[in-house]
Amino acid sequence: MKRNRSLFCLPLLAALIGAPPAAQAQTEPAAHPAVIYVKAGHLFDATSDQLRDNMVLLVEDQRLVKVAPAADLPIPAGATVIDLSKDWVLPGLIDCHTHLEYRADKYDPINDVRFTPFQGGFNGVVNARRTLLAGFTSVRDVGSQPFFAVDLRRYIDEGFIPGPRMVASGPPLSITGGHGDMNGFAPPVSNMMYPAEKDFAIVDGPEEVRHAVREQVKYGVDVIKILATGGVLSQGDTPGAEQLTYDEMKMAVDTAHAAGRKVAAHAHGTQGIKDAIRAGVDSIEHGSLIDAEGIQMMKARGTYLVADIYNDDYILSTAPKFGLPQEMINKEKMVGRLQRENFRKAVEAGVKIAFGTDAGVYPHGDNAKQFHYMVKFGLTPAGAIHAATSSAADLIGRSQDVGTLVPGKYADLIAVSSNPLDRIEVLEHVSFVMKGGKVYKDELGAAPDAAKAVLQ
Ligand code: ARG
Repeated sequence: MKRNRSLFCLPLLAALIGAPPAAQAQTEPAAHPAVIYVKAGHLFDATSDQLRDNMVLLVEDQRLVKVAPAADLPIPAGATVIDLSKDWVLPGLIDCHTHLEYRADKYDPINDVRFTPFQGGFNGVVNARRTLLAGFTSVRDVGSQPFFAVDLRRYIDEGFIPGPRMVASGPPLSITGGHGDMNGFAPPVSNMMYPAEKDFAIVDGPEEVRHAVREQVKYGVDVIKILATGGVLSQGDTPGAEQLTYDEMKMAVDTAHAAGRKVAAHAHGTQGIKDAIRAGVDSIEHGSLIDAEGIQMMKARGTYLVADIYNDDYILSTAPKFGLPQEMINKEKMVGRLQRENFRKAVEAGVKIAFGTDAGVYPHGDNAKQFHYMVKFGLTPAGAIHAATSSAADLIGRSQDVGTLVPGKYADLIAVSSNPLDRIEVLEHVSFVMKGGKVYKDELGAAPDAAKAVLQ
C-alpha cells in the first residue's frame, strides 16, 4: 500500500494549525447591485426546446427570483437594468470535461518532466478566465495534479480568480503503466516525477482503489475520475484496451458513491466501456469504440455519454505543430472518426448526452466549437444546448443551482446576437456573460458599470 505516515504528533499539529476548514465551503463573492432587471429579447431557459420573446429575469443576491413576460413585470424601483432586449439569452454553458491545468500548445512528452505545479497553477488562472469569457459558467474538471482543481475551485469561489464554477476531481485513477501513469521513461525518472500522484492515483487491485478514492475525498474532490481503458495522448498504451478491471471499477464506484461523489470513466475501448457501465459509473467519457450492446446498456442504466467529438480536428491538424508524437497521431486516427459515428448511434438510441470537450487538449475558450459537431452528428440545436445546460447540470449534480433559467438558480446566463437554434455556431461568439449576477463580459454595452465584475 502506498501510504504516508506522518511523523508529527497529530494533536500537536492540529493545535498549531487550528481546525481544518469546513469541507468545500462555497464562499461567494460580495458586493453586487441589490436587484438586477435583465431584459431578454428571446429567452431559451432550457426547461424546454422553446424560445420565449420579450421576457424579463429578476436577479437578487446572485440568484434568479422571477422570470416573466416583460409586460407582467415592471422595473422595480432602484433596480439595475441590463438590456438584452435584442439578443438571445441562454443559461451559462457547462463543459463536463475540462483540464484547466493544461495548455494545448505543448505536447512533447518530455515536458512532463519539466512540468511544475507552479506552471499548472499559472495555466489554470489563464484558462479559467478564458473559459468563463467564452460563456462557460460551470465546468467539471476531470484530471490534474493533486489537488490543483480543488484549490482553483476555492479561489474562484472566493472571487479571487475569475472563472467558472468548478466540480473538481483529483488525478485520474490509473493502473500501473496505464493512461495516467508516466510511461516511456527509465524507472528512476518515472518514479521521481510525480510522487504524490503515485500515492493518490496509481492503483492496482480493489484495495488500492478504495484507498485512493478515500484519499481524494479527504482532500476535497467533488468527483472521481477513473481510467477504464488506454488513451490517445499517453505513451505506450492502446485506447481500445481495458485497463482497470471490473472489480477495481466497482470498488471505485462503491467507495465514491458511499462518499456522495460521482464517477467519470475515461473509456475508449468496447469492453472497458461495458465494464465501466456495469460497475455503475455516472458517465462514460469519450466512448469512442462503443458497440450496440454498450449503447443499450447506457440507455437502460441512464449513464451519460460525454464525447469529446471536436478534439479529433485539433489533434490531427494543429497539435502536431506543437510536438504531438507520431504514436499519438496514429492512435487518434484509430478512434477519432469512429467516435463521431458512434456518437450519432448513441444519440439515435436515446442515450443521455452531456457536453464535454477535453479542453486543454485544444485551447481553452474554444469549447463551443464542439456544438457544430454535436449537431452534425445527430443532435438538434436545442438538444445540443440541453447537453451543455440542463443535462450537464444533472450529470454534475448541480441542478439545484445551474443549468436552467428558473427562479432559485444562480443568475448564470449568456447572450448571443443571433438565434442559436438556427445556427448553433453563434455560441462560438458569446457576447455577454453573467455569473452569479455579476457581468464578466459585455460586448453589447448592455450593462452599467456597477453590474460589472472587477475584471472588466
Ligand atoms: N484525453 C483523451 C485521450 O488521450 C483524448 C482523446 C482525444 N481524441 C478523441 N477522438 N476524442 O485518450
